Amino acid sequence: MAARLPPILITEKAIHQRVSELAQQISADYDGREVLLVGILKGSWVFLADLARRVTVPVIVDFMTVSSYGASTKTSGVVKIVLDLKCPLENRDVVVVEDILDTGLTLKYITDSLKLRRPRSLRIVALVDKPARRKVSIRADYVGFEVPDKFVVGYGADCAERFRNLPYIGYIEEKSDG
Ligand code: IMP
Ligand code: MG
Repeated sequence: MAARLPPILITEKAIHQRVSELAQQISADYDGREVLLVGILKGSWVFLADLARRVTVPVIVDFMTVSSYGASTKTSGVVKIVLDLKCPLENRDVVVVEDILDTGLTLKYITDSLKLRRPRSLRIVALVDKPARRKVSIRADYVGFEVPDKFVVGYGADCAERFRNLPYIGYIEEKSDG
C-alpha cells in the first residue's frame, strides 16, 4: 500500500503552542478547583494527554465513547453512547475534551445528556472547530483552531481509523477524476 502522508494543515509546533495556551486558560478559569476532563474516544486521546499534562489545577480524567461516524467521512447522524463514564458528575466541574467540532451533533448530544447528571459546571474544549459545517447550535468554550471545511486527520483524529498517530494535523485531499 502506498504510504502517502496527508498534507500539513497545522504543524506539530503550532499545536503544542496552542495546547499550552488552552491549558493556561483552563488553569486560570478553574483556579482553586478540580476539573474532571471527559475525553471523547477515540479522537481526543492525544489532545487530552497533552492538555492534561499542561493543566496546573488538579484533574481527574474519564472517557466516553459515542458512535457518530462509520468508516466513511460522512456523518451518519446517529449518536449513541457506546461506553459510558465511570465517574459521577454531580457537583463536579466538567470539561468535555473533543478533537473536532464539526456538525455539532455529537457534542450537542453529549452535553445534553451530561447536563442531566447535574455537574456544577460543564464546558467544552475542542482542538479543531469547523464552524462552516455546523448543523445544530453549539459552541465550544475553548477552541484550539478554527479550520475550513476539510476532512482533517492526525493528533488523534482519523480517517477510517488511519492517521491518528500523525504528530501534526493534516487533511485528506479530495479525489479528482482527472
Ligand atoms: P460532529 O458530530 O459532526 O460535530 O462530529 C464530531 C465527530 O466526528 C468528532 O468527534 C470527530 O471524531 C468526527 N469528525 C468530524 N469531522 C472530522 C474530520 O474532519 N476528521 C476526522 N474526524 C472528524
Ligand atoms: Mg470523535
